Amino acid sequence: MAPKRFFIYTVGCQMNILDSELAAAALAQAGYQPLKSAKGADIILFNTCSVREHAEEKIYSALGRLKHWKDSRPEGIVGVMGCMAQKDRETVLKRAPHVDLVIGPGQIDRLPHLIAEIHKNQTPRIAVSADRFHSGSETGSVRESFRRYDPIRLPEFRPSRYQAMVRIMFGCDKFCSYCIVPKTRGPEQSRPADDIVREIKTLADSGCREVMLLGQTVNSYCWKDAAGTVTMADLLERINGIAGIERIRFVSSYPTAMTDTLLEAVRDLEHVMPYLHVPAQHGADSVLKRMRRRYTAAQYRELVERIYQTIPGAAITSDFIVGFCGETEEEFEQTVELVRWARFKNSFIFKYSQRPGTYAAKHYDDDVKESEKRRRNNALLDVQNAISAEQSARFVGQTVEVLVEGPSKTAKKGVLPLVGASSCQTQLTGRTPCDRIVVFDGPTSLTGTLARVRITESAPFTLFGSLQSDS
Ligand code: SAH
Ligand code: SF4
Ligand code: F3S
Repeated sequence: MAPKRFFIYTVGCQMNILDSELAAAALAQAGYQPLKSAKGADIILFNTCSVREHAEEKIYSALGRLKHWKDSRPEGIVGVMGCMAQKDRETVLKRAPHVDLVIGPGQIDRLPHLIAEIHKNQTPRIAVSADRFHSGSETGSVRESFRRYDPIRLPEFRPSRYQAMVRIMFGCDKFCSYCIVPKTRGPEQSRPADDIVREIKTLADSGCREVMLLGQTVNSYCWKDAAGTVTMADLLERINGIAGIERIRFVSSYPTAMTDTLLEAVRDLEHVMPYLHVPAQHGADSVLKRMRRRYTAAQYRELVERIYQTIPGAAITSDFIVGFCGETEEEFEQTVELVRWARFKNSFIFKYSQRPGTYAAKHYDDDVKESEKRRRNNALLDVQNAISAEQSARFVGQTVEVLVEGPSKTAKKGVLPLVGASSCQTQLTGRTPCDRIVVFDGPTSLTGTLARVRITESAPFTLFGSLQSDS
């Protein structure tokens, strides 16, 4: 009998976490058995990311370590999925000749079929979507794979049965000069609104309470058909009406696509949370221009003001790149200034990593020293962390509504003694509407419900509190 136990190792963004979930569900449905680690696996899959060099090198060294495993188990399968598979294709097989399968993000529904073929023929396979500029590849155009898209949703493969990610858009057309994503994920395409609503209804029926809508520029969602046009605000309204869905979030938003109508929808729709991830990337016009972002720092600031004015209590998070090609100290200082001013809930800060094939790799020098990138990264992080701590501290004394996610990591490890009177009391975690983590003691039966917690203490990224008796 063909080997059947599989393990998927995932790096990268939420898109990849979702893809791994969908791949696991497809394999399980085809009779394969999921494992929580590579120990005892017959099939080891890597879901990869290409956004920074470090992420790729990590995968190549993990693949190198598997050579031995493969030598001792010739019937075992090593697969590379995700963005690096789409981008590197044959290079993956050259650098790691023991790899059996290279499969791009647009082809995941074919995974069980491809694995069965490898078992039968013992020959390596490459299945990637067509290059965004050429058609006629082995597997046809991106459009075709997009039309086939009908994900299998099984609650046991989600990080929690109460929460789910839902892809509403594929790809990206923005071509920011530093970014590889438009090449790995293909052209921007919105999914039909009816399909998204149907998928979320299925999720709600299987116990899901919170959905995170995913897209590279998610707020520019737009679906057009004979019945008319569905914008992001319209889609949110439809999802808001689905029974059982308590919380809706969406990431990541592109600054110029944030219309007043959308902000008003976030404000007015009961289940849409006041949380927006709107990456600024930089605070200096000159750098934004080199990055090929399509706004100025002043326009970004105007957006931040508009968000705070329209949605009281809104939390904004951002991404920044430090040490981009030619970034001077003065330019970097403008990013620091923006972070000081904007009062983000938190920021994800990255050191620039040159990606072959991007506009920046072709046209600019990666001339900021690694040590300087690190210094700027740490300096910006210090500024942001101080703001995050201040913002968190404001919650002390307030009562917040929390969607309970279950026992905290510490409670799961059994490090903490169970607290409270009842034996089923433990340390729980949950999140506020603006996505702040809250830790408190309570019965595990609250998992998946909304509870009211009075905040007593704060740390930069965590709030601590006690359960209110009316929960
Ligand atoms: N679509 C999202 C971002 C996807 S990539 C958006 O536009 O907001 C996630 C983050 O990785 C980006 O926001 C950017 O800050 C960072 N990033 C992308 N390419 C990078 C590179 N070459 N070097 C360092 N960071 C990068
Ligand atoms: Fe990359 Fe820019 Fe597209 Fe985001 S918008 S995925 S940063 S090209
Ligand atoms: Fe990485 Fe691909 Fe996501 S490059 S950040 S896994 S879209």
